Amino acid sequence: MSGVNDIRSTFLNYFAANGHEPVASSPLVPRNDPTLMFTNAGMVQFKNVFTGLEKRPYSRATTAQKVVRAGGKHNDLDNVGYTARHHTFFEMLGNFSFGDYFKEEAINHAWNLVTGEFGLDKSRLLVTVYSEDEEAATLWKKIAGFSDDRIIRIPTSDNFWQMGDTGPCGPCSEIFYDQGESVWGGPPGSAEEDGDRFLEFWNLVFMQFEQQAPGQRVPLPRPSIDTGMGLERMAAILQGVHSNYDTDLFRTLIAAIEDVIGSKAEGDARASHRVIADHLRATAFLIADGVLPSNEGRGYVLRRIMRRAMRHAKLLGARDPVIYKLLPTLIAEMGRAYPELARAEALTTETIKLEEKRFLTTLDRGLALLGTATETMSAGDMLDGETAFKLYDTYGFPLDLTQDALRQRDISVDLSGFTDAMNRQKAEARASWAGSGEKAADTVWFEIREREGATEFLGYETERAEGEVRTIVKDGGELKEAKAGDEVSVVVNQTPFYGESGGQVGDTGTMSGEGVRFEVSDTQKVANGLFIHRGRVSEGVLKVGAALELVVDGDRRSKIRANHSATHLLHEGLREVLGTHVAQKGSMVSPDRLRFDFSHPKPMDAAELSRVEAMANDLILENAGITTRLMAVDDAIALGAMALFGEKYGDEVRVVSMGGAKESGGKAAYSIELCGGTHARATGDIGLVHILSESAVGAGVRRIEALTGEGARSYLQEQDARVRRVAAALKTTPAEIGDRVEGLVDERRKLEREVTELRKKLALAGDGAGQSGGSTAREVGGVSFLGRVLEGVSAKDLKGLVDEAKGSLGTGVVVFAGVADGKASIVVGVTPDLTDRFNAVDLVRAASEAIGGKGGGGRPDMAQAGGPDAANAGAAIDAVEKALGSQSVAA
Ligand code: ALA
Repeated sequence: MSGVNDIRSTFLNYFAANGHEPVASSPLVPRNDPTLMFTNAGMVQFKNVFTGLEKRPYSRATTAQKVVRAGGKHNDLDNVGYTARHHTFFEMLGNFSFGDYFKEEAINHAWNLVTGEFGLDKSRLLVTVYSEDEEAATLWKKIAGFSDDRIIRIPTSDNFWQMGDTGPCGPCSEIFYDQGESVWGGPPGSAEEDGDRFLEFWNLVFMQFEQQAPGQRVPLPRPSIDTGMGLERMAAILQGVHSNYDTDLFRTLIAAIEDVIGSKAEGDARASHRVIADHLRATAFLIADGVLPSNEGRGYVLRRIMRRAMRHAKLLGARDPVIYKLLPTLIAEMGRAYPELARAEALTTETIKLEEKRFLTTLDRGLALLGTATETMSAGDMLDGETAFKLYDTYGFPLDLTQDALRQRDISVDLSGFTDAMNRQKAEARASWAGSGEKAADTVWFEIREREGATEFLGYETERAEGEVRTIVKDGGELKEAKAGDEVSVVVNQTPFYGESGGQVGDTGTMSGEGVRFEVSDTQKVANGLFIHRGRVSEGVLKVGAALELVVDGDRRSKIRANHSATHLLHEGLREVLGTHVAQKGSMVSPDRLRFDFSHPKPMDAAELSRVEAMANDLILENAGITTRLMAVDDAIALGAMALFGEKYGDEVRVVSMGGAKESGGKAAYSIELCGGTHARATGDIGLVHILSESAVGAGVRRIEALTGEGARSYLQEQDARVRRVAAALKTTPAEIGDRVEGLVDERRKLEREVTELRKKLALAGDGAGQSGGSTAREVGGVSFLGRVLEGVSAKDLKGLVDEAKGSLGTGVVVFAGVADGKASIVVGVTPDLTDRFNAVDLVRAASEAIGGKGGGGRPDMAQAGGPDAANAGAAIDAVEKALGSQSVAA
């Protein structure tokens, strides 16, 4: 008997040995198709290869593809748990030919694998073909030797496979296994076909067309093959059990559920065990692929699946969160084939636990309400829509949960009543919003947000995805299309572009499709989750409804990611070096640099800055992993996550931590922050961080700016080149420039002192360069008068010189005019014996006028003035001489 893991590898190995490239499963959220809710078949990742839009280096491939069929065209949610073979999540094994082989080889391979490798009994097999496909019927006869009664011609869409409303499609042929008379049911096409006896396990699609729009089908460039085998069904067949839920993998999961909840999978309880086992897989795989529970879109499908599982856990008697405890068993079973499960374990555990905690608080009360409302009802009755809506709106019961809860009693729900109640509530919300006084220019965004819902952000997982244009906005009005050259804002249903928020700038990049190209120059997030892509149509006509490939400028985004992660490292470093009073006050994360504002009362010194920088770089060298998880705000804060005070957070927050997980008991995380931004995968991706500056931005708020990676490297390279240039000019080595410059500065200081001394000497010596006005004292008005213009002597040296001159004169009046830097300064000195006759202050005033000064001032024995007319320095001295003569006469 083969286990699920063996069957998967047998299939892949068979096709690999037959020239098929083994390709990894693509994520559950399709990157290449905006019209699909989830990847619903193995061919989804090859959609564009079939249509010829995309080329691959191989023309045959084989995959084990993760598939979710809940929501969208293929939706099995309602049946799960109540049938032997429906799942929300399952694995589809497939082989693909892209214009290589066609029907004959596809049928040949299928037959060889099924009867050879898997050893199925030929007499138990039969097939269906599309009624018009004679070729397939003939081939089955030839290859399998089937008689006509084992080739069933089906005329309906059951044998024509389509991915969705659009996409590649074609007639198909399904292979069935007869489980024998002990199981009720009839062959396909018969009245009893819904029974389980004849089990369809492999669908061979002969891809021939592309559905481009409803009613518009064109042939593919070359006929191709797409097949899908349900791994769970094949396991059931090979293990000789009648239900997928009795295969090895599900038995292990169900045993874990019995263990954790303490309830045996017997009787009526079996359906609940199956629901939980199935939904656990869908939940874990969806979260690992980036979907988180929410109230819209994919997130809401996940939430419905999770809550449905929770109600069944409750039915089995669980009082506390239990589903998250099943994760280790799932990872042990499937983690080897899908390593993403283990990688996302922390995120998945916390997300499930959080959803369980939250929903358990209202589940009981909701169930009580439902019990009362249906107390007197019996099979065939209908629950009113108002109550179903109240359960939905107040108690968080998705509609299908209510339906599921009433299913066993055969009570239905009034769906149109439910929709009416929902619409009434929306209308009320709209009315209250319209009255809330939003700016007219912004109202368009709120209207679009209400109509289209929030934009699904795919950019944590990918930088490239398809999105469908939902509307185009120009000058506050909506357009149906925009032409080359138009500057517009575009809203799509899902986007990998990050919308500016939390200090991180918006992404740039392109959106393109057949003949059309839109250059995105900025992305903003408005109106509670609506992403608007601003830019210019550079080619063709951009139309609402077009499916475009959205590609983020990846280089720019990597730089932004590195800068954002570096900001967290610096934040933590600042708290360690300066203290925990450091709190984030703002930040700006762009591709070129980062800025971080924080509370701290005084400037940082050089040593503090270099410690912060060194701590950040130490962690970069450790190349520590950066992990993101989703938690309740309170749990995150309890974990020590830094949150922005006053910031509004939703109930759930993203928590980004670097360097280990605090609660893991291992090495403590270095930094834990609440953050919605995009981050590097490991600290090593940052490369290097270099702080450029530290400055003040306001009272008690400091700012550091820094560079990372390439930016930091080229900055430091330039700095290094400058140092080398300086060293060369100084004729020394870079290592010695410090000493060299200090030596030069000392030498210069010494020289300056010498020059000053020499000037003084010159000033006091006899006639010589740099002086005028005569060298010796003369008699003026009966006293000795010494007046000189001293070139190059500044005001600050002048007083000393005048003092010295007074000393050597003994008695008299000294006037020195210093001329330096195009300005003149005058100092007048009067020896003490003469101060009763002459006042230096009066004398300097006369001089001041001559040099355009404002009068000057000082004491009777020494006064000073200055002025801009350096050329009149001589005249200033003459003016003092004249004043002296006139004062003396007056005396
Ligand atoms: N794409 C085909 C299916 O999903 C094989 O059934």
